[in-house]
Amino acid sequence: MNNPDFQTITVALGQRSYPVWIGAGLLADHARWRVMLRGRHAMVISNTTVAPLYLERVATGLEGLHWSSFLLDDGEAHKTFANVGRALEALGQLGATRDACVIALGGGVVGDLAGFSAACWMRGIDFIQMPTTLLAMVDSSVGGKTGVNLPVGKNLAGAFHQPRAVVADLDTLTTLPAREYRAGLAEVVKGAAIGDEPFFGWLEQHADALAARDAGTVLEAIARKVRYKAGVVARDETEQGERALLNLGHTFGHALETAGHYTTLLHGEGVAIGMLLAAQLSERLGMSSSADTSRLRQLLEKLGLPTSIPAGMDAQQLLALMRLDKKNTAGSLRLILWRGIGRAEIVGGVAEAQVLATLDEATTH
Ligand code: NAD
Ligand code: GLY
Repeated sequence: MNNPDFQTITVALGQRSYPVWIGAGLLADHARWRVMLRGRHAMVISNTTVAPLYLERVATGLEGLHWSSFLLDDGEAHKTFANVGRALEALGQLGATRDACVIALGGGVVGDLAGFSAACWMRGIDFIQMPTTLLAMVDSSVGGKTGVNLPVGKNLAGAFHQPRAVVADLDTLTTLPAREYRAGLAEVVKGAAIGDEPFFGWLEQHADALAARDAGTVLEAIARKVRYKAGVVARDETEQGERALLNLGHTFGHALETAGHYTTLLHGEGVAIGMLLAAQLSERLGMSSSADTSRLRQLLEKLGLPTSIPAGMDAQQLLALMRLDKKNTAGSLRLILWRGIGRAEIVGGVAEAQVLATLDEATTH
């Protein structure tokens, strides 16, 4: 019989397939995840905010092993190559062998850096994701994209390295600040907007319960988003095609994040506004209807997410930032747009004038 408080989703990648466990109390459910550790060494990578809250629950499951912890300072600014170097030094200090396991305990920053460290140590050792933000549970912990930021840009150094398991303990969300929780909801909406219209309808029906963090509704929303993403990753692990759709709203969102110097908007907030701009541009290009744009706006608003470009940002400046996106060719942009809810597609040759008009209309004058 199904346990309504727990779900397992498998990311199907042949011999590298792995489970995503979602439920309450999972960090302390040592019997479940400890079997994933093959050797005698483990290193928990976390940060100075999350470790005081949750490291103990994990540590008691590591008794009998040689293990240590490596803590980052909190924040995106610490997702650096220098810190990967320090993590690798710490693995050396531990005497970690090839069968060692890295455990990533934290949000997407910790997960990306820990996964990349695991990919580098002895050319690749096991790691387990223990995501503690909603964004990490529904997005960054699943799919094996790992990496760090470089001075020239975000996430420019990294590796595809799949975890052995994802342990999403819903209890950790109780300490997550409201704004971070809402930013995670944007990534849930994104999955539905890209490729799962029934899920979008379900989110519209359950928006109030989600905003109020009703436990059963949150579990179902996470599971549905993870199931969708797991399917995409299984079909296109290294982003040769379909996986690029997961970036709906990202070119707009990155420009907004950069214009705000990464302090005005959280990533998920940039994605929320970016998705709406992508929908407005799609409508302008005759690809989708105003009814679909309205449904997206209403859902984002119900979930407490921002839907307009922050005051002080300028359309020309945002367009200039969007031009830097690697997907572009000279004079036109390559973007993820949609044909309505659940039907995203990659569109090349989008005229800059159309993008500028969309940005201009959405800018506070
Ligand atoms: P984050 O890791 O910075 O966490 C957000 C904040 O919440 C931090 O201050 C963190 O310390 C705190 N926190 C974490 N868990 C907490 C808890 N349970 N209680 C209280 N506070 C808690 O940010 P994020 O939104 O989780 O992740 C963003 C990162 O993820 C970015 O670096 C982004 O590039 C990356 N990302 C990666 C992928 C991927 O596929 N690998 C996908 C999306 C985003
Ligand atoms: N966040 C996009 C991806 O995992 O591909």
